[in-house]
Amino acid sequence: MDHPATQDWKRERLAKAQLALPPWLIFVPVDFERDDLGERLASAGFQQNSPAFFTWLGVVPYLTQEAIGSTLDYMASIQNSEVVFDYMEPPEAFSEEFAELVTERTKQLEKIDERWASHFEPAGIAAFLRSHGFCDIDDINFQEIKSRFGRAVKGSRTERLVFMWSTLNTSQAAKTGAHGSDKVLSPFQRN
Ligand SMILES: C[S@@+](CC[C@H](N)C(=O)[O-])C[C@H]1O[C@@H](n2cnc3c(N)ncnc32)[C@H](O)[C@@H]1O
Repeated sequence: MDHPATQDWKRERLAKAQLALPPWLIFVPVDFERDDLGERLASAGFQQNSPAFFTWLGVVPYLTQEAIGSTLDYMASIQNSEVVFDYMEPPEAFSEEFAELVTERTKQLEKIDERWASHFEPAGIAAFLRSHGFCDIDDINFQEIKSRFGRAVKGSRTERLVFMWSTLNTSQAAKTGAHGSDKVLSPFQRN
């Protein structure tokens, strides 16, 4: 899933580079601000009754809170869904040095008609996520990201990572023992 314009550009680059695409890969153009994610995924063959893992990295900071909320509502409506996303803390948390970098980056983004549209307070984000149907929330700071995934991880000290499971998942997992399965399931059905 990606914004239609970005996805077109990525596909052009892939074609130019003559990279072979894995046969299971399905491109789904979606604008989280405007489109109905469920409809977009369903028309691409996504089975909403299968477990799904959403990797939503590097996207949330560009979206409004409304678009994040409606996307989360949809993700949480899928039984056994899991999501990982990153978010940025509000500018008040920035060091002077990092604030300068952000100002630079903001100018670069403006030139390409993009902007960071959301920040979250770590103290408040869990309530927001719970109100959109998630529980089992693991929200880690940049130090913790580095210690779990290695010192080479690039990012900023105000970036945080959230892993979470939908409410449905927890009750279902309790019944089926589904957590920790090493089975890879594809929720897409090809026609
Ligand atoms: C910094 S990039 C992260 C890229 C991503 N992690 C990847 O591996 O391709 C930001 C991504 O957010 C996407 N994005 C921004 N606004 C969006 C929107 N309204 N709907 C869908 N995607 C959006 C952009 O298209 C871009 O792919």
